[in-house]
Amino acid sequence: MKKTGIFYGSTTGTTEDVAGRIAAALGIDSSDVHSASELSLTLIGDYDVLILGTSTWGDGELQDEWYDALDMFRDADLSGKTVALFGCGDSCSYPDTFCDAMGIIHDAVCDRCTVVGSVPADGYSYSSSKAVRDGRFVGLAIDEMNESDRTDERIAAWTEELKTILAE
Ligand SMILES: Cc1cc2nc3c(=O)[nH]c(=O)nc-3n(C[C@H](O)[C@H](O)[C@H](O)COP(=O)(O)O)c2cc1C
Repeated sequence: MKKTGIFYGSTTGTTEDVAGRIAAALGIDSSDVHSASELSLTLIGDYDVLILGTSTWGDGELQDEWYDALDMFRDADLSGKTVALFGCGDSCSYPDTFCDAMGIIHDAVCDRCTVVGSVPADGYSYSSSKAVRDGRFVGLAIDEMNESDRTDERIAAWTEELKTILAE
């Protein structure tokens, strides 16, 4: 299995919780699950596959810890690396910026690595999202505020697809 690390930015704990559930589904050790505030160029270099998670705050903005972390990613050598993204948002209260931050991270890294794990957007209720391209979210979108009953099935389907990529 490719060496895989999860990095999450979380203000109230939702994205951290989802990161743990994704790690459990993929069999990733908790020592490889990090807050985005722990990011360093060395840590990025340690992993073949990076799973990056963020919630969206403000009006479609990054979670706080991702501002510095994304600057580090902009400086990092991502050649040969695979990135998968997940995001937590609230599609009822913020339908016009649902999970936007996932799209912001995507745009900062997608030219320099292989991004995997897009998800069809038709299973979600929202008006607009920077994280949607050609009818697909660039990663796994989670709405724990309104659709927590769907989170387990969404994580299961997504991680099942990722397992194939991690095993290669
Ligand atoms: C002030 C505020 C602004 C928010 N802005 C957005 C937003 O623009 N888009 C979105 O999808 N969710 C938005 N959310 C919802 C959060 O992203 C959501 O509650 C998320 O699960 C929080 O995850 P965290 O605890 O890991 O930070 C906002 C929530 C608050 C309280």
